[in-house]
Amino acid sequence: MAEADIALIGLAVMGQNLILNMNDHGFVVCAYNRTVEKVDKFLANEAKGTKIIGARSLDEMVKKLKKPRRVMMLVKAGSAVDAFIDQLVPLLEKGDIIIDGGNSEYTDSRRRHKSLKEKGLLFVGSGVSGGEDGARYGPSLMPGGEPEAWPHIKDIFQGIAAKVGSEPCCDWVGEDGAGHFVKMVHNGIEYGDMQLICEAYSLMKDALGMSPGEMSEVFTEWNKGELDSFLIEITKDILAYKDVDGEYLVEKIKDAAGQKGTGKWTAISALEYGMPVTLIGEAVFARCLSSLKDERVTASSQLSGPEVTKYDGDKKAFIEDIRQALYASKIVSYAQGFMLMREAAKEFNWTLNYGGIALMWRGGCIIRSRFLGNIKEAFEKNASLRNLLLDDFFKTEILKCQKAWRKVVSQAVLLGIPTPAFSTALAFFDGYRSARLPANLIQAQRDYFGAHTYELLASPGKFVHTNWTGHGGNVSSSTYNA
Ligand SMILES: *[C@@H]1O[C@H](CO)[C@@H](O)[C@H](O)[C@H]1NC(C)=O
Ligand SMILES: *[C@@H]1O[C@H](CO)[C@@H](O)[C@H](O)[C@H]1NC(C)=O
Ligand SMILES: *[C@@H]1O[C@H](CO)[C@@H](O)[C@H](O)[C@H]1NC(C)=O
Ligand SMILES: *[C@@H]1O[C@H](CO)[C@@H](O)[C@H](O)[C@H]1NC(C)=O
Ligand SMILES: *[C@@H]1O[C@H](CO)[C@@H](O)[C@H](O)[C@H]1NC(C)=O
Repeated sequence: MAEADIALIGLAVMGQNLILNMNDHGFVVCAYNRTVEKVDKFLANEAKGTKIIGARSLDEMVKKLKKPRRVMMLVKAGSAVDAFIDQLVPLLEKGDIIIDGGNSEYTDSRRRHKSLKEKGLLFVGSGVSGGEDGARYGPSLMPGGEPEAWPHIKDIFQGIAAKVGSEPCCDWVGEDGAGHFVKMVHNGIEYGDMQLICEAYSLMKDALGMSPGEMSEVFTEWNKGELDSFLIEITKDILAYKDVDGEYLVEKIKDAAGQKGTGKWTAISALEYGMPVTLIGEAVFARCLSSLKDERVTASSQLSGPEVTKYDGDKKAFIEDIRQALYASKIVSYAQGFMLMREAAKEFNWTLNYGGIALMWRGGCIIRSRFLGNIKEAFEKNASLRNLLLDDFFKTEILKCQKAWRKVVSQAVLLGIPTPAFSTALAFFDGYRSARLPANLIQAQRDYFGAHTYELLASPGKFVHTNWTGHGGNVSSSTYNA
């Protein structure tokens, strides 16, 4: 009896919560897990009294689905996804849809899309963000893959997604691996946002000597303005949290950050496609440096820094400067993230909906913020906007913050407080707004030792080589004697 609107494979917490969410929105879901007892347990407990049905085999599951059949997987990324696809393919027919809602790499999604398309099946790779709570009450969903599949899953996806006002935080992202690529960039941006917040915390703590409680009040204020976001909000709570002994818990936590790799993948893609996504890169490296805890402890007693390590100016004004530095750096980070997506779109011929992506991130996910509403507006105003920094709103904002930003970065340098993300964002800003960079000298050097040729400003497109040693030096391209 075909009665289910969609099947969901994988009954870990995320899977269970998505099923319950779909049920709340009126869809009949067929639940399946390789370990069949999980299905029985789920039906007897969490799903009791709902319209959710179960299946004890993939064959039974497929028979319970309305056509075109929609099968969503929430299983461990990697070989488990391929294994389920292999088992599903012979059970499905042309036009049926396989959705991978796991944390797959976009290159895998590109491959799966291609191979399933050859078999007449429609593949969707969807980013799912928002954790367990998001899955239950409204995640951010980033589906990409075979566009033909979208009309068949749109109602379910937009139905269960987080809403901002009445707008769902879910829209079609683009072709083949685009959904998982955008999810990867989301996670990279999350790394960046977290690092920026940590640098603000570090400045307040070390330069201004503030207590976690005091800082919590600052973040509470910040959360009422331009920086209004989930991450600022949880930071204010974390800072205020006291352990059973009455001490602030945050200061008892070992300062060695873990990572699962999605930030790293964003940075690797940035290198691969030649995009200067410097802030996410620094955020990943900052975690790497933090994890060298033992080495840092040793070095801390041997490599001394500046004599003065406390800021002696107006504290209140400096806190406001830090806020502006954070805001300006965040604008740069998002501008870089969108640059990477634009380049990948060019590489893979994706038609990406940039305003839609900002809206998908506006609610439901970890980087949700008021700020993403401004990004959505920027792309709505101008869909072909080349860079966020060129949008009137963001241009005005970043120029407004510029002075405070420079002050914070230079103070941090003088006081010896590391601010890799604030600093790299500012260096990017200064590089991006420079009509002329010193790369002319790099070109000359490359031509000198490697005869790589260079282009003259006066004759674009014409590449020339100079016999540099014929006029002064004693080194030529083929002989290294200096
Ligand atoms: C089955 O459910 C368990 C959790 O109960 C989960 O850990 C596992 O990944 C699921 N596996 C599959 C393939 O359905
Ligand atoms: C993108 O499109 C161009 C021109 O149509 C084509 O040459 C290229 O192979 C395509 N790239 C990919 C990755 O599909
Ligand atoms: C839209 O953005 C493009 C690229 O940044 C720019 O060339 C164009 O002038 C903008 N259009 C408007 C109406 O602002
Ligand atoms: C470069 O110039 C020097 C000095 O005129 C000459 O000896 C040498 O052969 C030239 N090298 C090449 C590669 O033309
Ligand atoms: C090149 O080498 C010659 C002989 O070794 C030396 O006399 C001359 O000063 C050198 N020229 C330069 C510009 O280094």
